[in-house]
Amino acid sequence: MFNIFKKKKQDATLFYTTDVHCHILPGVDHGAQTIEDSLAMLREEKQMGINRVVLTSHVTADTFENTPDTLKPAFELLKQVVSETEDLRGMQLFLSAEYRIDEFWDKQYELGNQIAMPGNYILMENSFHQELLELDNLLFDLRVKGYKPILAHPERYGYYAQRHQRLEQLHNMGIKFQVNLLSLAGYFGQHCRETALWMAKNGMIDMLGSDMHGLDHAKVIKNYINSKEWNKLVPIIHSHIINDLVRD
Ligand SMILES: [Fe+2]
Repeated sequence: MFNIFKKKKQDATLFYTTDVHCHILPGVDHGAQTIEDSLAMLREEKQMGINRVVLTSHVTADTFENTPDTLKPAFELLKQVVSETEDLRGMQLFLSAEYRIDEFWDKQYELGNQIAMPGNYILMENSFHQELLELDNLLFDLRVKGYKPILAHPERYGYYAQRHQRLEQLHNMGIKFQVNLLSLAGYFGQHCRETALWMAKNGMIDMLGSDMHGLDHAKVIKNYINSKEWNKLVPIIHSHIINDLVRD
């Protein structure tokens, strides 16, 4: 009978307030499909302490050939609905994208069709099969043009799992690394988790992202940030994390 007096343990919140990687923009990739999906996911972000969300929908050849023309109307609509939604007031949204380095990117980059985050950060996704020969040149070119390239979830590219020195090399070139909370939680398997933990211990996580595609992802992340492991990891990575520097 005394259980009713027991205080419910408070859900943990993140130590930063900007999510730099998610698929919450509705109807443009395989993340949120409807405005209702987007609102539900934004509520999850809010519960985790996030109040600035960079919308990074997929831009990939053949599957999601998004351009500013497809992303901007969805963004304007979502922004409008969020501003009219009582419990999400104050949630700031920013439009950018997750750019896969492929032939569609090459074409769009030439046309200047990329949308950077505040502060000129830009989220780049490697091929999952093999590292592209032009990777170094492209990252260099982006920096020369004033962009700050972020490599999306380096821990997820299997070809780096046994080549940590290549990750060190890329990081030393000044490329920022964004790791998925889902990877740390083990959602993508043991190899990916181990690489993410190795990066954490070697000061190579610059940014964390939810990479949230749906409510199932939010659930995994919430469980993880309430775990003892996360609590032990936070003091190790805390001073390296620059999520909140994504601003103009
Ligand atoms: Fe993503």
